[in-house]
Amino acid sequence: MTGATTALWLAEREIADLVLVDVLEGMPQGKSLDLSQALPVIGKDVTIIGSNDFEATTGSDIIVITAGLPRKPGMSRDDLLTANAEIVRKSVVETVKRSPEAIFIILTNPLDTMAYLAMKIGKLPPERVIGQAGILDSARMRAFVAMELKVSVENINCYVLGGHGDEMVPLTRHSNVAGFPLREILPPDRLDAIVNRTRKGGGEIISLLKTGSAYYAPSVAVAQMVEAILKDKHLIIPASAYVQGEYNLRDIFFGVPVQLGRKGIEKILEYELDEVEKTALEKSAEAVRQINEALHKLVSF
Ligand SMILES: NC(=O)c1ccc[n+]([C@@H]2O[C@H](COP(=O)([O-])OP(=O)(O)OC[C@H]3O[C@@H](n4cnc5c(N)ncnc54)[C@H](O)[C@@H]3O)[C@@H](O)[C@H]2O)c1
Repeated sequence: MTGATTALWLAEREIADLVLVDVLEGMPQGKSLDLSQALPVIGKDVTIIGSNDFEATTGSDIIVITAGLPRKPGMSRDDLLTANAEIVRKSVVETVKRSPEAIFIILTNPLDTMAYLAMKIGKLPPERVIGQAGILDSARMRAFVAMELKVSVENINCYVLGGHGDEMVPLTRHSNVAGFPLREILPPDRLDAIVNRTRKGGGEIISLLKTGSAYYAPSVAVAQMVEAILKDKHLIIPASAYVQGEYNLRDIFFGVPVQLGRKGIEKILEYELDEVEKTALEKSAEAVRQINEALHKLVSF
């Protein structure tokens, strides 16, 4: 669902030709035909191909990896590790040899660990591997603030850093509505409720859907990243990037503000954090490290 919906958002923007690959026979072919038949109505000229063969992706500028199992009700993202590590490993091996210069955007969960695996297995430079999490988590928080205050989503700026798990770190001190600090316009109990709902935003949707997980918001987040890269926008977004000393963290993928352009990650930006925020980030980083350790027992690289 996230892969095909990313294709839909991208086709609407008319910024790339698209190839959908899946192991299920006929499914990517059927979805790409359906999408192609929407294009005359919206007046967009892009080519959309579906295939069960990675050969069709040869020479891609960007590879978006969404292959893998989504969560079921009651599961954590980490529960997906064993199944998805092999799927992501194979997807990276098969795509990197056909598109060695591509920039990789990873969506599959557990996100920060799957991005780490992609970089290691693909022997990719860190600036060419980006995990999608922060745009989505921040957008969830923005949506909840908009619902609470009845203000346009466009006025709301929220920043969620850290790992893409329950320990993610919504930065309430840096978040604002048209420049007014969130902490000054929302009572502490309402702000806490929004922070908690943001942290559990994915799980809330899974328990409502019962089969599958969220896909509209995750995939539009990927589309925004693809657009920033193709248009060389130098766009600053929160995303999972390989940290090498930033925020005092090393050798993990972690949600931090990054600047995206045609070469991928141009830089990682560092907020000044207070002690409470630093402690929360460290706790989140420790959760990511633990899943990475479990990964090392499954895959050697
Ligand atoms: N990072 C995020 O913010 C975020 C948000 C939503 C979903 N996700 C994750 O993205 C992943 C996909 O979610 P979804 O809702 O699209 O799931 P989905 O079940 O709708 O689609 C996953 C697809 O992967 C395919 N697949 C399995 N093995 C494959 C392989 N070896 N090669 C190619 N395709 C293969 C399956 O056939 C299936 O069609 C899940 O792991 C989910 O947890 C992450």
